[in-house]
Amino acid sequence: MRPPNGATAVARVTAGVTMSHVPAIGAASDLGKAGDGYWQPLFAGFEFSRRWIAQRKPDVIFLVYNDHATAFDLNLIPTFAIGCGDEYEIADEGWGPRPVPKVVGAPDLAWYIRQAVIQEDFDLTAVSNVAVDHGLTVPLTLMFDRPDAWPVLVVPFAVNVIVYPPPSARRCFELGKAIRRAIDSFEADLDVQVWGTGGMSHQLQGPRAGFINQEFDARFLDALVEDPEHLCQLSLLDYMRQAGSEGVELVMWLIMRGALNDQVTELHRHYHVPASNTAVGHLILENR
Ligand code: DHB
Ligand code: FE
Repeated sequence: MRPPNGATAVARVTAGVTMSHVPAIGAASDLGKAGDGYWQPLFAGFEFSRRWIAQRKPDVIFLVYNDHATAFDLNLIPTFAIGCGDEYEIADEGWGPRPVPKVVGAPDLAWYIRQAVIQEDFDLTAVSNVAVDHGLTVPLTLMFDRPDAWPVLVVPFAVNVIVYPPPSARRCFELGKAIRRAIDSFEADLDVQVWGTGGMSHQLQGPRAGFINQEFDARFLDALVEDPEHLCQLSLLDYMRQAGSEGVELVMWLIMRGALNDQVTELHRHYHVPASNTAVGHLILENR
């Protein structure tokens, strides 16, 4: 909503988007295989989303993601790290950096959110010069395909879901609310979307490697829209038992949901199994 004439414009959260970040999706796009039989049904579920975001033209994506021992490792494990830099290089995850544009930041907004959210009792680590891996670039590819430059500024927000324990679902949900309050009070005329990425059910390791739970994923998608409070009551072990050890990435979707109104409209849903080892889920939610 725009303020009346003469009033100071403030930023506003207009929508929340979730999607999985399977690295093979990035490789499929980079290698021109998005239309192949295996990948076509997955990418088809993002055609609506690409048209929608081209019309909505958000200024900034507050992009909640997890790093996979790329920028952070056992030497440094921030639970929550907010990207306050001017730009972010694309990580080399073993096959060279993905051939996608560099990610341009929104440092004024990021520093502002940092100070506001820390004063609401959440400890954020400020980072600037970090490389971003598939956790951040694959969601951008799914929504924007292959542009010469990403058409948005990005505030990367990294959550530790790699080294036990990740933050609880409830803490993520409450953090999302604090982030929303901060964005809503930032004095600039900015349309901001909050994305929650990672998930859905998958397990890459141990005796249950390959585990996928479609019933849990369906319940999670419904509850994220209608009853996120229920998802806050699940423990980390509940998430790992039901969604797999890497499925715990789903707690990041609660940050997105906390940044939206209690009531939201589900504009779009896509669910596809399998993509590599993972069940891919995708939602577009608008504030009601
Ligand atoms: C896969 C999924 C992930 O979330 C990830 O970080 C790496 C690999 C997979 O399904 O292959
Ligand atoms: Fe992952």
